[in-house]
This record gives sequence, C-alpha cells and structure tokens, in this order.
Amino acid sequence: MDEEKKRLAEATLAQIAREVSVCQRCMLHHSRKLAVPGEGPADSEIMFIGEGPGFHENEQGRPFVGAAGKYLEELLAKINIQRTEVFIGNVVKCRPPNNRDPLPDELVACSDYLERQIQVLNPKVIVTLGRYSMARFLPNAKISDVHGQSFRIKGRLVVPMFHPAAALHQPSLKISVERDFTLLPELISNAGKHSIVEEEKPAENKSEPTQLSLF
Ligand code: URA
Ligand code: SF4
Repeated sequence: MDEEKKRLAEATLAQIAREVSVCQRCMLHHSRKLAVPGEGPADSEIMFIGEGPGFHENEQGRPFVGAAGKYLEELLAKINIQRTEVFIGNVVKCRPPNNRDPLPDELVACSDYLERQIQVLNPKVIVTLGRYSMARFLPNAKISDVHGQSFRIKGRLVVPMFHPAAALHQPSLKISVERDFTLLPELISNAGKHSIVEEEKPAENKSEPTQLSLF
C-alpha cells in the first residue's frame, strides 16, 4: 500500500471508530463504558476478528487487553508477530452485559462497521476467533470441524480458530489453537498469489500440509 493510500485508509478507519464511539444502533450502547472499534495498522495483511469486548476492553476502549489478549499476544509472539503489526477487531463493538453472547439482532446491527473495516483493510487473511466471528463467514460450519483450515471467501482467505479465552481454560483447545497459529506465516505468504474465487470451500486441509503450496 503506498503512503497516500495508507493515509486514506487510516482516515476511513478513524471515521468508522468515531461513528462506533457514539453508535446507538443496538441495545449494547446502554451498558457500554467505551466502545471498542478495533485497532491496528491500515495496511495490515492480516486481520483478527474476535467476539466482543469484555470487562477490560470496555474500560479501555481497546480490543483484547485482558487475559485473552495476553494469550493472543503470546500466540502471535510464537510466530514472530507483534500485536501492533496486525488489525484486531470484533463482531460487536460494545460489551454485552456480563459477557453474555451477542444476540442475533446485535450482530446484524453492528455488522456494517466490520464490513467497512474489512473493505478498507483489504487483508490477505482474516482469522476468526471463536464461533460468532466464524459464523459471519461460514454460517453452517462447526468450529471443531474446520478450525485451522483456510477457506477462500470472496477472494480472501478466512481461517477459523478457537477463541483464545476458551483455549485458555481448555487444554485440548489450547493445543489446537497453538498448532493452528503455526500455520499462519505460510498462509500469509501464500495468500493473494491465486485469484480463483471458490466460495466456502476449504483452500487447504491442515491434515495434509503438503497441499499448502497448491493454492
Ligand atoms: N474477547 C473478544 O472476543 N474480544 C475482545 O476484544 C476481548 C476479548
Ligand atoms: Fe452500535 Fe455495534 Fe455498539 Fe451496537 S454493538 S451500539 S451496533 S457499535
């Protein structure tokens, strides 16, 4: 991305963040302290999409700053990525009361902000963290079946992964998410080399790593 394009993209992301900060499109605005629009460089090649702000995120207005965030940073560090290098957002931008799951109407109400962020960033790879984020791209998938696989959706690679908060407390998910993260560097470097658009088809299968070079 050249400098001029990057400045424009930054301005658009800032505009979206301003709109989110005063948004009243769904009930979640009543209980928020600070909205959490998401953060990261406008030219990030990779975008992580979580579920929604928790307690600490709501206090600080920043995504993934609590225990799940610390773990996400560790997962990134293992593949030599710093969190400041990637865009991190959520499917809902305001904290659901008591960290309950987001409701369907809240997901719909908030959807446009995330869509605009994706359009602006145009990331090579989107990593969804958890079920709600996965469902936006793969509405019929089961996370236990598809985690760590990549899907080419509208020309972009989408890789569903378990949510770090869930993995923190469940050893089997922890093993999975850590293994899935190790696949990311190769996915990122290969993404974008191929223009064939196959909607909702696995682009590769993690159980057959030799296929990685095929897409
Ligand atoms: N969990 C999420 O899904 N998103 C955050 O921003 C923080 C925790
Ligand atoms: Fe608006 Fe999204 Fe917050 Fe609902 S969750 S008030 S749609 S920014």
